[in-house]
Amino acid sequence: MARELRDRVGDQRAGQSALRHVRSVADMHRGAQRALPRSVLDFIEGGAEDEVTIARNRSDFEQLTLLPRVLRDVSVVNLATTVLGQPVSLPVLAAPTGLTTMVHPLGEVGVAEAVSRAGTVYLASGAGGQSPEAVAAATTGPAPWFQLYLWRDRGLVRELLARTRESGFAALAFTVDVPRGGRRERDLRNGFTIPPRITAGTIAQGLARPRWSARFLRSGGLGLGDIDRQGTPQSWSERVNTQTDPSLTWAELEWLRGEWSRPLLVKGVLHPDDAARAVDCGVNAVIVSNHGGRQLDGASSTITALPGIVEAVGDRTEILLDGGVRRGTDIVKALALGARACLVGRPMLYGLATAGVDGAERVIELLREELVTAMSLLGCTSVGELTPDLIGPVAAAPRT
Ligand code: FNR
Repeated sequence: MARELRDRVGDQRAGQSALRHVRSVADMHRGAQRALPRSVLDFIEGGAEDEVTIARNRSDFEQLTLLPRVLRDVSVVNLATTVLGQPVSLPVLAAPTGLTTMVHPLGEVGVAEAVSRAGTVYLASGAGGQSPEAVAAATTGPAPWFQLYLWRDRGLVRELLARTRESGFAALAFTVDVPRGGRRERDLRNGFTIPPRITAGTIAQGLARPRWSARFLRSGGLGLGDIDRQGTPQSWSERVNTQTDPSLTWAELEWLRGEWSRPLLVKGVLHPDDAARAVDCGVNAVIVSNHGGRQLDGASSTITALPGIVEAVGDRTEILLDGGVRRGTDIVKALALGARACLVGRPMLYGLATAGVDGAERVIELLREELVTAMSLLGCTSVGELTPDLIGPVAAAPRT
């Protein structure tokens, strides 16, 4: 499936040349800005309301300082670790992002392939543009995990659980921070709908990004996932508000625990008491996440919330973190404060937009190179050596 789609989509060589000048995730972001139509770029890089939480996810990482240790033999640095018992080549996983097919027709299948090549885990979105079966088939590395929204349509939820079990997904992450869609004002201003409505504005944006448009025409249009079968254009928040269930409580987490015997994670926790309650319900890991600043604006950054959660449940469960992770030094800070691994969301999409599967893979390889450098300079040769004493005082003010 991936090969057949890739042959149709073509343009591998263009991707390679786009990567020639990429030295960081920020460069990859610039590549995506050049590649994507405005409303698609806004959909992925934007967040809720004033985007204060997006900014905090970055500035709070930047404010943390590091206290390196010196004169330790760092000639060999080993990044390998395990997450929920699964070996991975580095403590970085790919976060779930819905409708990745909008960024590039290879979509989730392309990310699965990139992540496999890098030897780590893809947590595939339950609101993806491609089926779980296609993602599983494209995975040649560590078994993928599946992210679940508890849709109002519980028949669809049961069907998804059966299909993901059948296709070999090793773990399930239940996202709990979307009882309602956050107010994403860029999307509202752009009149962004799923599926996209064809207007003079969208045609003009498509003409301004001919390579993106040509790929879409060659691939046969936007792949929409299971939840979008009906295909009526809706704004993102209308779509979420009609499909997600705002009445969910801890009872549903207990129900899910009964339905799913493989490892279960809860994604979107910031309060230590919620982390403790989730662990009491039998989850195997907690993902400290504010949905990349796309839900509650003003929510704490994840790196600031992490220590409280580590204190509450760190001895009982694995803790993962996402939100604003853009550098190897961000990852060492999160691991030093008690995270087992980090996930990256937007950076994978920037890579995919810039250069398809190779671009997405390059994002993980950049983070790998930065991690080796950061750990060497900190005096650490394995992820287990990243401990809280390596974190120094918080810098006085965020960088402007
Ligand atoms: C997301 N995120 C998300 N989370 C989730 O649980 N299910 C989903 O379907 C989606 N979809 C989605 C789409 C897009 C375009 C983005 C950018 C994000 C949130 C995602 O999993 C993750 O929590 C954040 O993206 C992490 O922050 P960074 O790395 O993007 O800063």
